[in-house]
Amino acid sequence: MSVECFVTGGTGFIGQHLVALLSAQGHTVRVLMRRPERLAALREHVASLGGNAAQVFAVSGDLQRDNLGLSHVDRAVLRGARIVFHLGAHFAWGLSLQQSRAVNVEGSRQVALLAAEQNSRLVLIGGYMLKNHQHLRNIGIDPRRPELTNWPAVYRKVGGYEASKLEAHFATLQVMAAQGGEITVVHPATVCGHSRTGHILEGQPLMELIRNLVQGKLAAVPGTPEHWLPLVSVDYLVELVAACAFDPAMVGQELLALDDQTPNLRELLAQAAHPLGVKAPKHHMPLRLMKLLLSVRPIARLLNTNVEALDFIQTTRFDTAAVEQFAGRHGIAKPDIREALRHTATFVNAHCLGKDIQ
Ligand SMILES: NC(=O)c1ccc[n+]([C@@H]2O[C@H](COP(=O)([O-])OP(=O)(O)OC[C@H]3O[C@@H](n4cnc5c(N)ncnc54)[C@H](OP(=O)(O)O)[C@@H]3O)[C@@H](O)[C@H]2O)c1
Repeated sequence: MSVECFVTGGTGFIGQHLVALLSAQGHTVRVLMRRPERLAALREHVASLGGNAAQVFAVSGDLQRDNLGLSHVDRAVLRGARIVFHLGAHFAWGLSLQQSRAVNVEGSRQVALLAAEQNSRLVLIGGYMLKNHQHLRNIGIDPRRPELTNWPAVYRKVGGYEASKLEAHFATLQVMAAQGGEITVVHPATVCGHSRTGHILEGQPLMELIRNLVQGKLAAVPGTPEHWLPLVSVDYLVELVAACAFDPAMVGQELLALDDQTPNLRELLAQAAHPLGVKAPKHHMPLRLMKLLLSVRPIARLLNTNVEALDFIQTTRFDTAAVEQFAGRHGIAKPDIREALRHTATFVNAHCLGKDIQ
């Protein structure tokens, strides 16, 4: 059955893969685009990822604008959307509270209002930090009483991107509860390239890590042997997201999309380095010391690393039984994350770094 879908962030990394999957499944996909003139390019990307480009349409708009900047005509067309997938976000390190809030928090509220008003199911893409309750408490958020949070203090502690994603999550839940709308949330770990092709886009955190590895900017492994950067491959993730959207049992549920087979950070770097013939660092550097070094701007620039990125490297382990069961119920096979990682490194080498590697 073909269903009308509205996707924000459909031009981004996860979004392109999701649009490809939904359109390949026969759904009509309308993508919020700040630059709708790039629809032809998006359709090309979608087709190259296995999607059906003819099922993909642009809706001109911007998460930062009132009512998403939608025209009356587009607003009317979107009323036919049964599912609204909200992936759009301003992802960058060093964002101010104002910059990140405007897109990530206010934009999410606008998307939630639209979905609730027209009785569409909202599928929100959050982030796995929202499932680390100890971390939330450490930075001043009680997940059971988020309304008590001193948000400006959280922004100062963890930076604009992470803080705004956390605030957006609670703000969106609040809008949907107040409006009586249906919501499902998927919290991805850091996203790895496609498990078979390695496809990943410029600007992704894992891509930057591989670039630093290749360019010799990673002299040491951040943290200890217990530290890891939990991953999920993009193809597995979008299959989970699409399945969630059509599963009535997932209304009001949150799913953590994280591969617990992700190796620790040292092994992750070794896996990525192997197909490229570069050396991975073997020795560890305490995170506290690394954060101190990175607080010196020229060092951060030289190492092409932002202190905000280090928060995503953790020792916490997560319970992934729910996602394993969900995937099993929907017949979604989990790819081998080490293989996905090696393919991603090879893809980055071939498409993103060019001649940087000897
Ligand atoms: N990648 C990860 O490792 C990861 C992990 C956990 C959670 N997530 C979450 O997953 C979602 C998608 O991530 P991604 O990695 O695919 O992001 P991405 O590649 O950076 O793409 C971001 C998307 O948001 C859109 N966008 C940004 N500002 C906008 C605005 N003002 N109005 C409308 N659209 C706007 C971009 O559109 P343009 O093409 O116009 O720039 C793009 O389509 C985000 O919510 C992110 O926080 C990502």
